[in-house]
Amino acid sequence: MPQSFNITLLPGDGIGPEIMAVTVEVLQAVGKQCDLQFSFTEALIGGSAIDATGNPLPDETLDICRGSDAVLLAAIGGYKWDSLPRHQRPETGLLGLRAGLSLFANLRPATILPQLVEASSLKRELVEGVDIMVVRELTGGIYFGKPRGIFDGDLEGKPIKRGVNTMAYTDAEVDRIGRVAFETAQKRQGRLCSVDKANVLEVSQLWRDRITALASDYPKVELSHLYVDNAAMQLVRQPKQFDTIVTGNLFGDILSDAAAMMTGSIGMLPSASLGENGPGVFEPVHGSAPDIAGQDKANPLAQVLSAAMMLKYGLDQPEAAKKIEQAVLSTLDRGYRTGDIWCEGTTPVGCQEMGDALLATLSA
Ligand code: IPM
Ligand code: MG
Repeated sequence: MPQSFNITLLPGDGIGPEIMAVTVEVLQAVGKQCDLQFSFTEALIGGSAIDATGNPLPDETLDICRGSDAVLLAAIGGYKWDSLPRHQRPETGLLGLRAGLSLFANLRPATILPQLVEASSLKRELVEGVDIMVVRELTGGIYFGKPRGIFDGDLEGKPIKRGVNTMAYTDAEVDRIGRVAFETAQKRQGRLCSVDKANVLEVSQLWRDRITALASDYPKVELSHLYVDNAAMQLVRQPKQFDTIVTGNLFGDILSDAAAMMTGSIGMLPSASLGENGPGVFEPVHGSAPDIAGQDKANPLAQVLSAAMMLKYGLDQPEAAKKIEQAVLSTLDRGYRTGDIWCEGTTPVGCQEMGDALLATLSA
């Protein structure tokens, strides 16, 4: 009897459906080889959910996700929904999903594949061998802190408006993401860099104190701290100094994009969002790329690699995950490239052709 898993698919908007279609084919092929059976249930999120129901995260979607073993998400958003009020924006659906499933830990690897060194915007000697894991806190900080809003007030008798967000962390919130980060670093090269703004922000001072206190439970991990501005600079100056980075929601959002671009294309990078228990959400770091949607130009590899992360971190199937990762590497070795990673001497392919090439590699 094959082991079976219920997977929720959230293709979302823009290039989402195209890259998801390729990924489902890859999962089915790997499932056959590893004796795993997947049943897929598709649900709505983001702009497509707004169009169908008026809500970027319908209750039904959250219920389906909660009832599944893992959630594979593609991307949300697009110009069409950009001017809607905040509670109706696609991004609100994504944030609601993270909060609704309590996915406080976001793992974002930024690994330079040897095949793609030339695609990086940094020099070869700087990026060759880079292998960074950004552990981003995902359900707290300024993304969720209260009060928030645009409030009417007055300044010296004149009416004004004030936009307000609140960056707040409790000790327990820092501790739980801190533990995930120390454990992650322990399984990697054992170096953890915590990023904050403790020279200015109290919330960061608490962050730094708690992370420092945790270190005694992980004697094998070497802990360092950087202010976020310096961390941004160090990332582009000497990225190889980093192994594992842990940081809050907003700083993690920014630094993970910077780390991602270093690898040549944001079209290559997967992520995993995990909670204490319950299904995780696995999604590419990139967005919905509405400018190329529906044109068969998208790079499906970040989505495919997100499925590998799902197998590894969400379903405890490391062997199947390895097969997918190997297939991606061999397909790149065979010279296939979508537009975002194309360079002289390689074979340009579209999204579907890249999928076909992956399937061919898998069955070779
Ligand atoms: C990300 C994205 C999201 C975020 C947006 C789409 C809400 O940028 O996953 O990094 O800011 O977290
Ligand atoms: Mg982001």
